[in-house]
Amino acid sequence: MSYLLVHEDREYLRAPGDELQTDLGVLEIPEDVEPGDVIETHLGTPFVVRRLRGPDLFNHFERTGAPMLPRDVGLVVGHTGIAAGDRVLDAGTGTGVLAAYLGRMHADVVSYEIDAEFADVARENMRLAGVDDRVDVRTGDLTARLDEVVEEGPFDAVTLDTGDAPAVVRRAPALLADGGHVAVYSPFVEHSREAVEVAREAGLIDVDTFETIQREMDFGERGSRPSTAGVGHTGYLTFARKEQ
Ligand SMILES: C[S@@+](CC[C@H](N)C(=O)[O-])C[C@H]1O[C@@H](n2cnc3c(N)ncnc32)[C@H](O)[C@@H]1O
Repeated sequence: MSYLLVHEDREYLRAPGDELQTDLGVLEIPEDVEPGDVIETHLGTPFVVRRLRGPDLFNHFERTGAPMLPRDVGLVVGHTGIAAGDRVLDAGTGTGVLAAYLGRMHADVVSYEIDAEFADVARENMRLAGVDDRVDVRTGDLTARLDEVVEEGPFDAVTLDTGDAPAVVRRAPALLADGGHVAVYSPFVEHSREAVEVAREAGLIDVDTFETIQREMDFGERGSRPSTAGVGHTGYLTFARKEQ
């Protein structure tokens, strides 16, 4: 488990025993560090130690594949009901934001990442999140390994954030436990439509797609209204379920 090290508007994510080098000096993080402690760099700059929370994963993980936004993670959890003790198959790991959130919920996650360097970064991110014992990041192409992965099933949920997700959805009946869900995240509606068609062909039920749009509210002196910064579209989430 790592901690946030906070000085004014700066925040760093580090584990006990790590060393943080900044222009404010070198900070050695003690093995017995606790939230609320104040530790100083060798130049005397104080950093407050803060407990890690879910959104910190999105803000501070080293990034590779575009990470899932917290709101989309919320929708995945809400629509699949993933809970402690569930077995989840995930691809691609990418930065590992979704996988780490699920690990922090005490789900047991097997996550495939096709890019070996991305997988290494994701493993380090899981270590920082304190979930490396529950999130098994595997280097490899999930689609190419489906025959062997099916043998490890069934999974309570399958979460997919890859361009070839429909090929995995096609095998969802063999991967999922009874009543288990598959979730597909896609930035493009054509891709979502393909996932829907494949899910229906595969005999999955409760096939639904949602566009995720979130509007931030501005509370100004003159009044309150949605932010004018943009429509807040992130993508489409398709859910489907194995009946039995
Ligand atoms: C958008 S990122 C996933 C982000 C991740 N959901 C998160 O929350 O951080 C997509 C990742 O999928 C990987 N990928 C694409 N196709 C794959 C496949 N067939 N098997 C495993 N990984 C794959 C890519 O290399 C990329 O890192």
